[in-house]
Amino acid sequence: MPRTILIIGNSDGIGRAVTRALVARGDRVVGVSRSPSPLGTSGPRHEIQDVGSPQLGDLLRRLLREEGGKEGGKDGGFDACIYCAGIGSGLTLPDLSNETRVFDVNLTGMVRTLETLVPHWLERGTGHFVGLSSIADDIYSTDAPSYAASKAGFSHYLLSMGLKLRRHNIAVTNIRFGFVDTKMAKAPMRPLMMTTERAARHVLRCLDRRPLQLSVPKIVGAFAHAMRLAQSLRIWTA
Ligand SMILES: NC(=O)c1ccc[n+]([C@@H]2O[C@H](COP(=O)([O-])OP(=O)(O)OC[C@H]3O[C@@H](n4cnc5c(N)ncnc54)[C@H](OP(=O)(O)O)[C@@H]3O)[C@@H](O)[C@H]2O)c1
Repeated sequence: MPRTILIIGNSDGIGRAVTRALVARGDRVVGVSRSPSPLGTSGPRHEIQDVGSPQLGDLLRRLLREEGGKEGGKDGGFDACIYCAGIGSGLTLPDLSNETRVFDVNLTGMVRTLETLVPHWLERGTGHFVGLSSIADDIYSTDAPSYAASKAGFSHYLLSMGLKLRRHNIAVTNIRFGFVDTKMAKAPMRPLMMTTERAARHVLRCLDRRPLQLSVPKIVGAFAHAMRLAQSLRIWTA
């Protein structure tokens, strides 16, 4: 049965590929980003919004009302939400001016989204939130500390909420990708980088299977974890 899925951050990259894949299989998509819809004006419904702004909550409540879900309505609304919005920012001292912005977009926007959707899904008796975190959530990054720390907070919060909500039939999935071929993948070395289409297939599989967490590629996750252990040793002995 076709589902109605809210995708936050779908004008480019992984969100755009997920939008195309969902539309191709007949699901109804409502998108949110600062740029127009990736599929043009004849494509799915799209709202322009900066997710780093407190106005995000107002937009999501309006969308719920207009999509027939009200706030907490039993019918209509969204079957699932995929939070793809994210930014990365390298840190060059002494300029820390973009650091809070990274947390606003990557972390606070996601928490604001759940704040609106969870009451709706509790009333409805079902729902699914999929968040795009990163394998970088496991490392202490001196190059992009706000990115790695915002993703650590993202994963920690989503896993906690997933455990909290599963008894209410609300699934939460934390997806930790390695490198995906988008403008965000800027590192000089990008081992086992996957295409956005492949990343989208993983997201769609998660929508069907509703796991609590997916880390892909596993070998990149294992490498990041080994790095984290080595970093922890340095911290303990510092
Ligand atoms: N690419 C990778 O290697 C990789 C690896 C691991 C995890 N991830 C995660 O996957 C997610 C998607 O990354 P991507 O590679 O697809 O990035 P991308 O190509 O840069 O796309 C990011 C999307 O987020 C939206 N976005 C960014 N800032 C926004 C804001 N303030 N308000 C609303 N929308 C905003 C962008 O739309 P607008 O600019 O139009 O607003 C765009 O649609 C991110 O959370 C990223 O951390 C990516």
